[in-house]
Amino acid sequence: MNRLLLNAAAAAAMLIAAPASYAAGGYVGVRTCTKCHDVQGESWAETAHAKAFESLKANAKAEEKKKAKLDPAKDYTNDKDCVGCHSTGFGQAGGFAVGGDVGGQKQLGSVGCESCHGPGGGYRDEHGKAEKKHKKEGQATPRKALVAAGQSFDYEKACATCHLSYKGSPHKGAKPPFTPFTPEVDAKYKFEYDKAVRTKALHEHYKLKGVFDGDPVPAVRAEFQKNAKELPE
Ligand code: HEC
Ligand code: HEC
Ligand code: HEC
Ligand code: HEC
Repeated sequence: MNRLLLNAAAAAAMLIAAPASYAAGGYVGVRTCTKCHDVQGESWAETAHAKAFESLKANAKAEEKKKAKLDPAKDYTNDKDCVGCHSTGFGQAGGFAVGGDVGGQKQLGSVGCESCHGPGGGYRDEHGKAEKKHKKEGQATPRKALVAAGQSFDYEKACATCHLSYKGSPHKGAKPPFTPFTPEVDAKYKFEYDKAVRTKALHEHYKLKGVFDGDPVPAVRAEFQKNAKELPE
């Protein structure tokens, strides 16, 4: 077999082995999600997560950086030790790359929808299809199908990846590069999931019609839906 054929065979084998989300393109970016979820998108855009990349620029948040022993005059936007937690899907298929698209078509230079909900390449089409089925036949689609397509409902784990990655953190999966903003720098950086998930740091919550059902139902679902806003017509 020549090299080209060998490469093609290797690529085909990788496609088979890769999870559905990768085969379908990995990260798709904020704008794909907000085509359908515009209201969540609007309130997300006002959050610190949406603006997280800005903090890496020279002279942004100078006082905070000094306190964490960082150089306020330095541009950290191309620094591999920083961008992982201030962007979406860093180094992964379809995700942010150093020097890549910050505010462009995919808006990957932010802690976007997929940082918490998982890479959308495999499941975004499932949402639209399930809605049609729900409208036409009144039938809900099992949420399990979304998990199989790469959607995540383990929000506590998603937050921990960024908020609890430092030496001595209670999060067992903590690994470098670590966040410079730890409770040792200032007690306000102590991350408590139960409190944090209930703040406006995420986005406003809107009533769901029940297009999906069954496990896994996130622990916060019932409470959030009880207080959720009505979707505008
Ligand atoms: C084609 C339109 C469409 C696109 C694109 C889309 N969604 Fe959805 N999504 C829906 C619909 C419809 C529902 C069901 C809403 C309901 O039950 O009222 C849904 C449900 C959800 C839910 C709740 C699922 C549950 O547990 O019931 C989340 C979270 C979500 N979408 C996030 C995303 C994210 C993140 C993206 C981008 C990667 C995305 N969606 C892309 C239409 C879409
Ligand atoms: C492991 C993930 C992670 C890495 C790596 C990381 N950060 Fe962050 N960064 C965070 C989190 C989480 C916060 C929010 C902390 C909070 O408000 O509790 C944050 C907040 C910040 C803030 C705002 C602090 C404030 O008080 O407003 C700045 C500035 C910042 N990071 C810069 C950097 C720089 C520069 C680097 C690289 C040297 C870096 N970060 C690396 C996760 C990370
Ligand atoms: C991809 C990394 C990442 C993930 C995942 C993530 N965060 Fe953050 N979060 C950040 C960064 C970075 C900041 C600081 C943004 C800045 O000011 O530059 C932040 C800021 C915050 C803040 C402070 C907001 C403010 O207004 O000061 C809260 C609260 C927060 N996050 C809660 C959460 C919760 C809850 C989750 C999980 C459901 C979560 N975050 C998931 C990276 C992340
Ligand atoms: C920092 C983490 C985080 C980010 C970023 C985030 N979400 Fe969410 N999202 C959540 C959590 C937590 C819930 C509550 C889950 C539940 O009720 O089951 C949620 C719920 C939802 C729901 C269900 C209905 C609702 O309003 O509660 C949709 C739809 C959704 N998100 C879409 C999006 C879209 C679109 C974006 C990007 C514009 C986004 N999310 C960004 C954490 C996040």
